[in-house]
Parts: sequence; C-alpha cells; structure tokens
Amino acid sequence: MAATQIGLGLAALGRPDYINVRQNSNIDKSKIAFKNNAFDVMDFAYKNGVRYFDTAPSYGLGEQFLLDWKNTRQHKDIQLSTKWGYTYVANWEIGFDGKHEIKEHSLSKLNEQWKISKQLLPQLKIYQVHSATLDSGILNDGTIHERLFQLKKEHGLQIGITTSGSNQSDIINIAKTIAVNGEGLFDSYQVTYNIFEQSTFETLQELKTLGKTIIIKEALANGRVFANKNVKKHLETLSKIYNTGIDAIAMRYVIDTIDPTIVLSGASTTNHLAQNLKALEFELSTEDLNLLTSLKMDSKAYWNERNDLTWN
Ligand SMILES: NC(=O)c1ccc[n+]([C@@H]2O[C@H](COP(=O)([O-])OP(=O)(O)OC[C@H]3O[C@@H](n4cnc5c(N)ncnc54)[C@H](OP(=O)(O)O)[C@@H]3O)[C@@H](O)[C@H]2O)c1
Repeated sequence: MAATQIGLGLAALGRPDYINVRQNSNIDKSKIAFKNNAFDVMDFAYKNGVRYFDTAPSYGLGEQFLLDWKNTRQHKDIQLSTKWGYTYVANWEIGFDGKHEIKEHSLSKLNEQWKISKQLLPQLKIYQVHSATLDSGILNDGTIHERLFQLKKEHGLQIGITTSGSNQSDIINIAKTIAVNGEGLFDSYQVTYNIFEQSTFETLQELKTLGKTIIIKEALANGRVFANKNVKKHLETLSKIYNTGIDAIAMRYVIDTIDPTIVLSGASTTNHLAQNLKALEFELSTEDLNLLTSLKMDSKAYWNERNDLTWN
C-alpha cells in the first residue's frame, strides 16, 4: 500500500488534557484507556496507509505509546519523528492548573531527552527542535547545532525545527542559514498552515524549491475550523459539494495549495481519523481554493486566538 500524504500526530493521544477544541471531553481519562485508544488509532492509521507518526516527550505518554507500539507491531516501513525541548510536567493530573509543559532549549535537555527518544531508531527519521523561537536561544547556540549535526551524521537523521506564532517565517528564514562544517543543519520544517493562518505560504514555497521536508501541523486549526461562525457557511457548502466533512475540506486545502511532504492529522479517535483521510479522495477546484484562500485571518489575531484556547 502506498504511504498516505497524511501522517498522524500524537499530541492529543498521549495525555488527558490538551488545548484542542474537543467535541467529546466526556471520555475515560485513565492511562490504560489512553494507551488502548492510542494503539487503536495507530493500528487503524497503519491499516489505512498512514506510515508517518509524529510525537514529542511533552505529549504526556505519547512518545512512550509510540515506542511501545513500534516495538510490539514491528512494522518496518513506518517513519517516525519526535522532538526535544519541552518537558511534560502535568503528571497526568486531570484539570492540572498551571503550565503543562516547560520549555528549555539547552544542551543538557537535548542530551537528556535524546537518551529516551533514540529508542525510536531505526524508524526515527526526523529529530526536531520543539518550537524554535527567536528568544529560546536555539537559533544562535553553536554548541547545540554541532550536537544536532553529530546526531544527524551518526544516525542518518533529518534534523528539523517546528514553529508556532505569527513570526514563523522569520524563524524559518534564520534557521535556513544555519550551517555546521559548511553544511545546512535543518532538513525538515514542521509548520502551522491552514485556511485561517496562511502567512507562511511564500516561505513554504521557497523551502520546497530548496528540497526541504515540509510537515504541516494544525491543519484544522486545533479544531477551530469547526467552531468559527464566520466561515461555517462556506465550509458547510463545500462539504456538501464534495460529499465530505469540513475537516477533509480543510486538510485538502493544505494539500492542494502547499503539496507538503506530510500533513498531520491530530485526530484522537479512529472515527475522526477516518474522516480526515477522506481528504485524499478528491481535489478542490481552483474556484473553491480561491474561496478558501479568502478566509485567511490576520496572523497575529490567529495566534492570539490560539493562545486563548484552554486545556481541556
Ligand atoms: N510542534 C508543535 O509545536 C506542534 C504544535 C501543535 C501540533 N503539533 C503536531 O501536529 C499534530 C496535529 O495538530 P493538532 O493536534 O493541533 O491538530 P489539528 O488537526 O489542527 O486539530 C485536531 C482537532 O480537530 C479535531 N477533529 C479532527 N477531525 C475531526 C472531525 N472529523 N470531527 C470533529 N473534530 C475533529 C480533533 O478532535 P478529536 O481529538 O476529538 O479527534 C482535535 O480536537 C499534533 O498531533 C502534533 O503531532 C505540533
């Protein structure tokens, strides 16, 4: 079976509370129920051609679940990515009051998290700086760049960054110039792009001409595509025309406008993943793409709204 252009992200699968706009928050939040569900969703994904899985140490037990699943299922043809730089501190406390993840882009954090994440080898293909920002220090820390370069050479990894916020393009434009021993460090960029947040469009086109791996995250704007009253009418009309859900329309928009290496699904149920995968079954017309492009928001307003989402 050919691998799908849709990959599966484990952000919502590995911890009891997340910032997504969840439709059903009335679920069993025990660790075992989460593990069983994560395995069901990953098995369903694999059965339907998904071969790319993305996780991070800060996704609660998300990295452990992916490791356990890899070890028990023994699929040779999967491609995995994880990240370093954030630590999960909510300790599986439902309704944890405070920051759920702490960011630290230091060499010691990299080495500490790599010790665990390297167990995902040899299926681990992309190792990413989790949420690189201008002030986190990662863009100008030569020692960390050298360590990442060493991991890249030693294990044949692609080194990536993930970005968030209204200055994603600024961060990418700096990251793209970072080199070790005269060789560009970053091969892969995990970027937010969707019908509301299109500010990275040109930057992504440029990355493509440079032959970089492009992973799109938050294609459904964390579930906000279902909740936005201003665009509901348009999205519902398109869903009827293409006989699919709003989610598939939004994911297809990403595929038709960017044609990324992978677009991540953040679904936490097999049912939602099945609906997301319908995006692979049709193409949007130029007229409909133009309509969706016109729905874009001001990038700052988009990220302000994102920052206002609560953990649930
Ligand atoms: N690097 C970073 O900083 C970063 C940040 C964010 C995300 N990511 C990566 O990107 C992945 C995807 O991002 P995301 O989790 O924000 O995902 P997203 O795809 O933008 O949104 C996922 C949300 O949409 C809902 N959904 C999906 N299909 C649905 C359907 N058919 N009907 C109703 N609701 C539906 C999901 O609900 P259910 O949970 O109920 O299925 C979930 O709440 C993550 O798992 C992670 O791997 C990385």
